[in-house]
Amino acid sequence: MRIASRRNRAGRFLTPLPRVVQMAFTTSNALGVEPEKPAMKERASNKRFPWVAALAAAMLLTGCAEQAAVKEKPVPVTLETKPFGKTPSGEDVTLYTLRNAQGLEIAVMNYGAILTSVKVPDSQGRIADVALGFDSLDGYLEKQPYMGATVGRYANRIAKGKFVLNGKTYTLAINNGANALHGGIKGFDKRVWSAKAGNSDAGPSVELTYVSSDGEEGYPGTLTTVVTYTLGNDNSVRIHYKAATDADTVLNLTNHSYFNLAGAGKGTILDHMVTIYADRFSPVDSGLIPTGERKSVEGTPFDFRTPAAIGARIDDTGDEQIKLGGGYDHNFVLNGDNGKVRLAAKAREPVSGRVMEVFTDQPGLQFYTGNFLDGSVTGKDGVRYGKRFGFCMETQHFPDSPNKPEFPSVVLKPGQTFESTTIYKFSADASK
Ligand code: GLA
Repeated sequence: MRIASRRNRAGRFLTPLPRVVQMAFTTSNALGVEPEKPAMKERASNKRFPWVAALAAAMLLTGCAEQAAVKEKPVPVTLETKPFGKTPSGEDVTLYTLRNAQGLEIAVMNYGAILTSVKVPDSQGRIADVALGFDSLDGYLEKQPYMGATVGRYANRIAKGKFVLNGKTYTLAINNGANALHGGIKGFDKRVWSAKAGNSDAGPSVELTYVSSDGEEGYPGTLTTVVTYTLGNDNSVRIHYKAATDADTVLNLTNHSYFNLAGAGKGTILDHMVTIYADRFSPVDSGLIPTGERKSVEGTPFDFRTPAAIGARIDDTGDEQIKLGGGYDHNFVLNGDNGKVRLAAKAREPVSGRVMEVFTDQPGLQFYTGNFLDGSVTGKDGVRYGKRFGFCMETQHFPDSPNKPEFPSVVLKPGQTFESTTIYKFSADASK
C-alpha cells in the first residue's frame, strides 16, 4: 500500500457547483458561481492546445477535410451538473458531465461515485459510449454487478469474511458464497457521496467524499475516502484515491467499470486485443480466493505480455485456472514498482481502432471478462448485457491480502494518508 503524507489537494478545487447546467469556460450565471474570465476561455481553447490547431491545419493540407472539420472546430471544455433522481431513502443524486477540448466526455454521479459513461471518438471522430451502465438512476439502484462503481472499503474478496488485525478477529458481511466481496452488502458503490466539482489546471474534475463509519460492514475505524475524477485534455480519465482512518483498518479501492471499446451493448469483447504487463498472476481456489502463489504466466492463457485476443484462450478447458474463473477473473501481479504510476494494461478494439491504456501505481489488476453477465441486466438503450459483453481492469491490491502476510500490506493506520492514482487513457488508431 502506498502511504504518503502529502498536502491536501482538495484545496485546489473551485466553488462547488449548483445543480444546474453550467458551462465551465463561459460566462457568469445567477447562482453565485465564479465566472471564468474571457482570457481563461482563450487560454483553454488555444494556448493550452496549440497542437490541436496545428494538427487541424496539417490535416487540411493533406486533404483530410472531413477529419479536419472534427478537430478544427474548437470544442469548449465543459462541466455540467444535473439532478439524476433520488435514492429510495430520498437522497438527491447528481450527475456531473465533463467534456474536454478533444470531444471526450465522461459522466460521474455521486451515488456510488459511479462513472456512468465514457464517450470516446474513434479515428474518424465517431463517438461511442464505451462504458456499460444504465440510462437512468433506477438501473444503478437495482441489483447490478458494480458497473462503473467505486468499490470499497475492500474491493475483491476476503476469505470467509474474516481477518485478524492487531490480534483481533473481524467478521465482515458475507455476500459471495462463503466470502466477503467488494465491501459487503452495502459497500461504497451503494452509498451517496458528497461531491464538489470544478476546474483544475489538469481539466474538469469531480471530487467525491464518503465517510464510512467504524464497524460499517464489519470493518474497523472511521474511514474518510476521497475519490477525484479528472478528465485530462490528453483523453485521460484520472481517478485519484485518498483515504484516512481514525483506527487501524484494511483498505482496497478500485473502479469497476466494464468496457467495450466498440460501444456498450455492441456484443462481446472477445475480439479485443489485450496486453497486460504482468509476468505473474494469482491462481485461485474454487471460491476465487488466491492461493497465495504468484504463478508465471509463461505458457498459460494468462500470458498477455504481447497482445492477444481476449477470446483466443478464454475457453481453454485444459487450463484449471480458466475453468475456476469461468474465463478471466484473476489478479495479475503487475510488473514494475508498486507505488509508481506505470502502464499496466492496454486494450484495442480492432474495428473501431479505439484503444484504452490503463496506468496505475497499484500492485495488481483484476482482469475480469464479464463471465457472470447473463442477459439478466438490461442496460443502456434497452440492451441486455450478455456473457462477456464487457471487461473490467480493476487496479487493486491483491484479493484476500488481509489474510495473506506474503502479499503487500493493505493496513492503513491513523496519521497515514493513503493515496493512489489510476488512469484510463483513450485514443484511436486507423481502423481497417
Ligand atoms: C469482480 C469479481 C468477479 C465478480 C464481479 C462482479 O470483478 O472478481 O468475480 O464478482 O466483480 O460481478
